[in-house]
Amino acid sequence: MALLRSFAAFSFCISLLLGLCSAGDPFIFYDWDVSYITASPLGVKQQVIAINGQFPGPIVNVTTNNNVVVNVVNNLDESVLITWDGIQHRRNSWQDGVRGTNCPIPARWNWTYQFQVKDQIGSFFYFPSLNFQRAAGGYGGIIVNNRDIIPVPFGKPDGDITLHIGDWFNRNHTDMRNALDNGKDLGMPDGVLMNGKGPYRYNDTLVPVGIDYETIHVHPGRTYRFRVHNVGVSTSLNFRIQNHNMLLVETEGSYTVQQNYTNLDIHVGQSYSFLVTMDQNASSDYYIVASARFVNESLWTRVTGVAILQYSNSKGKASGPLPDPPNDFYDKTFSMNQARSIRWNVSAGAARPNPQGSFKYGQINVTDVYVLRNKPPVVINGKRRTTLNGISYSNAATPLRLADQYKVQGVYKLDFPTRPLVGPPRIETSVINGTFRGFMEVIFQNNDTTVQSYHMDGYAFFVVGMDFGEWTENSRGTYNKWDGVARSTTQVFPGAWTAILVSLDNVGFWNVRAENLDTWYLGQEVYVRVVNPEITNKTELPKPDNALYCGALEHLQKPQKLHSKSSASSIVAGRMLLFTLVLLYAATAIFQ
Ligand SMILES: *[C@@H]1O[C@H](CO)[C@@H](O)[C@H](O)[C@H]1NC(C)=O
Ligand SMILES: *[C@@H]1O[C@H](CO)[C@@H](O)[C@H](O)[C@H]1NC(C)=O
Ligand SMILES: *[C@@H]1O[C@H](CO)[C@@H](O)[C@H](O)[C@H]1NC(C)=O
Ligand SMILES: *[C@@H]1O[C@H](CO)[C@@H](O)[C@H](O)[C@H]1NC(C)=O
Ligand SMILES: *[C@@H]1O[C@H](CO)[C@@H](O)[C@H](O)[C@H]1NC(C)=O
Ligand SMILES: *[C@@H]1O[C@H](CO)[C@@H](O)[C@H](O)[C@H]1NC(C)=O
Ligand SMILES: *[C@@H]1O[C@H](CO)[C@@H](O)[C@H](O)[C@H]1NC(C)=O
Ligand SMILES: *[C@@H]1O[C@H](CO)[C@@H](O)[C@H](O)[C@H]1NC(C)=O
Ligand SMILES: *[C@@H]1O[C@H](CO)[C@@H](O)[C@H](O)[C@H]1NC(C)=O
Ligand SMILES: *[C@@H]1O[C@H](CO)[C@@H](O)[C@H](O)[C@H]1NC(C)=O
Ligand SMILES: *[C@@H]1O[C@H](CO)[C@@H](O)[C@H](O)[C@H]1NC(C)=O
Ligand SMILES: *[C@@H]1O[C@H](CO)[C@@H](O)[C@H](O)[C@H]1NC(C)=O
Repeated sequence: MALLRSFAAFSFCISLLLGLCSAGDPFIFYDWDVSYITASPLGVKQQVIAINGQFPGPIVNVTTNNNVVVNVVNNLDESVLITWDGIQHRRNSWQDGVRGTNCPIPARWNWTYQFQVKDQIGSFFYFPSLNFQRAAGGYGGIIVNNRDIIPVPFGKPDGDITLHIGDWFNRNHTDMRNALDNGKDLGMPDGVLMNGKGPYRYNDTLVPVGIDYETIHVHPGRTYRFRVHNVGVSTSLNFRIQNHNMLLVETEGSYTVQQNYTNLDIHVGQSYSFLVTMDQNASSDYYIVASARFVNESLWTRVTGVAILQYSNSKGKASGPLPDPPNDFYDKTFSMNQARSIRWNVSAGAARPNPQGSFKYGQINVTDVYVLRNKPPVVINGKRRTTLNGISYSNAATPLRLADQYKVQGVYKLDFPTRPLVGPPRIETSVINGTFRGFMEVIFQNNDTTVQSYHMDGYAFFVVGMDFGEWTENSRGTYNKWDGVARSTTQVFPGAWTAILVSLDNVGFWNVRAENLDTWYLGQEVYVRVVNPEITNKTELPKPDNALYCGALEHLQKPQKLHSKSSASSIVAGRMLLFTLVLLYAATAIFQ
């Protein structure tokens, strides 16, 4: 079990006088032991990454403006970083947990994240960002609740259920990494997991005996909030609950216009909340399904996740065929129209009492335009790589943010092209020069043959347009300038484009990446550097005292006592120390 403790620190904080710090914002502590466990979700034994022995990991359940402290003990045999997909880390890319902002936490070391979930609400998830580890687990949901005083645009649900859905391979993540390093494709996944479990035996031929499946227990007449995250490797999934409407209410921190769906495509890295009312007669249990999308269904039948929705008055097991997926193998228009139908509820408030729509993004002038073109993999220097604008990203040994802090030269180039490069593709540590307080338009143009999702750390962006064909300046005429939803992960269909707008008001280095793990691993990634040209302490938090050093700065790193396998007790002993660290940290924040 996760040790969890929350208390209102500094409730009479001096900051009340200064009006500066997070006065009274509670601290929520988590202690995480990241280690391998043996599991066989699809009937084949393998090493899976667990947190405190759980796979998926524990839910991070916090409230707007809480300070979250997570001490991560790395008991894997390789380094680890945890990233918080969709958490904005205002002024604080130091805690983002990606290779451009943090040194990896070596095996048997620990590192303590501390960040505030400032002005956010909604459903997100965390995952290990290095070494293809997400393919082995290590992920879990993040819930950021509204503060009590802020109204939510729907009644309080009778329960809150997180579902992690995702494709799964029986090979472990090191084998998958090796395949990609050797220029191979991953091929078809072995199945789809729901909350770390294999499919219910809906078909005796397709599903072997003895597979553990997920059961969701509900009561008739009640309404539950389902938070669904696609945490998989690379497969878009169609999600549906037999005989039940799913009322979409939220996605990645924005309240949406509330609409019923019988099924919804959830692409890799995306999160959605649905309200589902138990309005059926429970003549049997019901199927919850997540099936692979845009693939030949007759070849990909095994890539289907099936869980069970069980009413307390259920009269029997679920049986018969699964509810049908959309039948549109040759035509992605249905899916694109579905994506376009997801809109912002401009009159609903989010983390603050004022309506979401009071930020009129459609009236802001764009300052920077980037067209990011994804091509099918290419061979560069004998290696199979993926590119954006002809550049395949190479991680620098020194995190970019640290390099800036210590004025280490030559770690990266601030020369990422605004348009696709002509000429041969290359491998580079090339960064986008963001304009602080600028308003950036990014067009993702997908020239590959599969759906890709793109994610940006540090921000929520507005999804303003999506269409087939090549984007042109004229495409701007079709943009939704009014109620495009603000989120952090968008899908880009093959042979199509997606346009986003983002207000660059958050100082730091921010990762933009393909969420599809194979595409990302092979180089589809870039950072946006956002620097305040004015010298001030107000727009970025100082480097944390516990920052790790590596690369050109490795000489600054003090050695750490290695954790033994059973480290939980030493963590508890270290609590007072940790608390002191937190006090010091908060004090620095106050006195800037
Ligand atoms: C992954 O599997 C290979 C065998 O296929 C094995 O050699 C390796 O130790 C495994 N790695 C992990 C982390 O489980
Ligand atoms: C999250 O915490 C709140 C209390 O802060 C509790 O009411 C709620 O049930 C929790 N949600 C989950 C999913 O654990
Ligand atoms: C490791 O955990 C201990 C508490 O167990 C804490 O005092 C220390 O600061 C942590 N190390 C880092 C680098 O965060
Ligand atoms: C939008 O939010 C408002 C304010 O909370 C709510 O009353 C309304 O029902 C919502 N509209 C839709 C279409 O979801
Ligand atoms: C089970 O799946 C197999 C293979 O797809 C199919 O031929 C068969 O009809 C299915 N059985 C039932 C009862 O649906
Ligand atoms: C959604 O479906 C539910 C149950 O089927 C129904 O009661 C509700 O009125 C529908 N809501 C909307 C906004 O269509
Ligand atoms: C329950 O609902 C199902 C599907 O809507 C229907 O076929 C069945 O007759 C109903 N059973 C009862 C007992 O009402
Ligand atoms: C799917 O694959 C099967 C078996 O190879 C083939 O017969 C069928 O034509 C394919 N369907 C489509 C829509 O391509
Ligand atoms: C946007 O630019 C136009 C001219 O290009 C200018 O007239 C207008 O005032 C600008 N709007 C804002 C909000 O800056
Ligand atoms: C980055 O952009 C700023 C303006 O935002 C400009 O002053 C600076 O010269 C640019 N740097 C490079 C290397 O292009
Ligand atoms: C990729 O780009 C080429 C050249 O512009 C074009 O012919 C082809 O149709 C594009 N394919 C996709 C899937 O966008
Ligand atoms: C920023 O804070 C540091 C101490 O944390 C202080 O030494 C420095 O003078 C401050 N700089 C500005 C511009 O306020």
